[in-house]
Amino acid sequence: MSDDLQIRELSGALGAEIRGLDLSRPLSEGTRKAFLDAFHRYGVLCIRDQKLTHEAHIALARTFGDPDVHPIAKGMESHPEIIRVLKPAGERAFFGTSWHTDNSFFERPSSVTVLYGEKVPPVGGDTLYASMERAWELLSEPLKRFLEPLRAVHSAREAYDPKTTGDAKYRGDAPIQYVFSDAIYAEVEHPVVRTHPVTGRKSLYVNPMFTDRIVGLSKPESDGLLAMLFDVSTRPELTCRVRWENGTVTIWDNRWLQHYAIDDYADHERLMYRVTITGERPV
Ligand code: SIN
Repeated sequence: MSDDLQIRELSGALGAEIRGLDLSRPLSEGTRKAFLDAFHRYGVLCIRDQKLTHEAHIALARTFGDPDVHPIAKGMESHPEIIRVLKPAGERAFFGTSWHTDNSFFERPSSVTVLYGEKVPPVGGDTLYASMERAWELLSEPLKRFLEPLRAVHSAREAYDPKTTGDAKYRGDAPIQYVFSDAIYAEVEHPVVRTHPVTGRKSLYVNPMFTDRIVGLSKPESDGLLAMLFDVSTRPELTCRVRWENGTVTIWDNRWLQHYAIDDYADHERLMYRVTITGERPV
């Protein structure tokens, strides 16, 4: 493999597909640099035709830092860093099926996600991504000035509270198992606008799944402002779409993207393995 990656862009906003790369083995220094440059440029890299053992998956993820062990969604017995995301045929998907940024309710939210599609539906089950950098760029200067100093509260409650989402996953009665813990109700504050630690670029950092409210605003003000920001930041021209194939690995940067797993493949199974990387405190 040469140091020049074979890249096909997925949209005008973000995302790229790469073929001809074997991620199960260590990359040469040149390829690794080209790969990381592409990652910071495109935000989502979708690498086809991979065959990863769990060990190789974790080793690949370590390119970006230390893997999280999720406090609620239970990792595999053998590899606690890996969440096995199974959607059986005949059931509705529920994991990640609305716009969100992975684990923004952590004190140190996940910076990067490495998702390996082992068995994907013949059609459907795509994942959408949106650039929160482009969303920030779209805003007017007066609104940017208003948003810059603000902070928002993030919480897992809406997505994980068994009182509203059902307790089957907590009873071990679902394909994904959850662990009941205080982490479901904890609240953390992050800036509404963050700066990427590597590229120095700014992006909006709020998402409909985990951002509860903006600090210091009344409830109607906060709800109205968040609704407008969620709307602006998921416009089609800010997005790309990954169509999965068996053996696709998609790696994305949660620090400047949101994503959405589309629940449109009821008749089919989908089996993915997910590792996320512990990020830095957003600033
Ligand atoms: C996730 O939200 O991390 C999962 C995305 C997917 O299954 O496509």
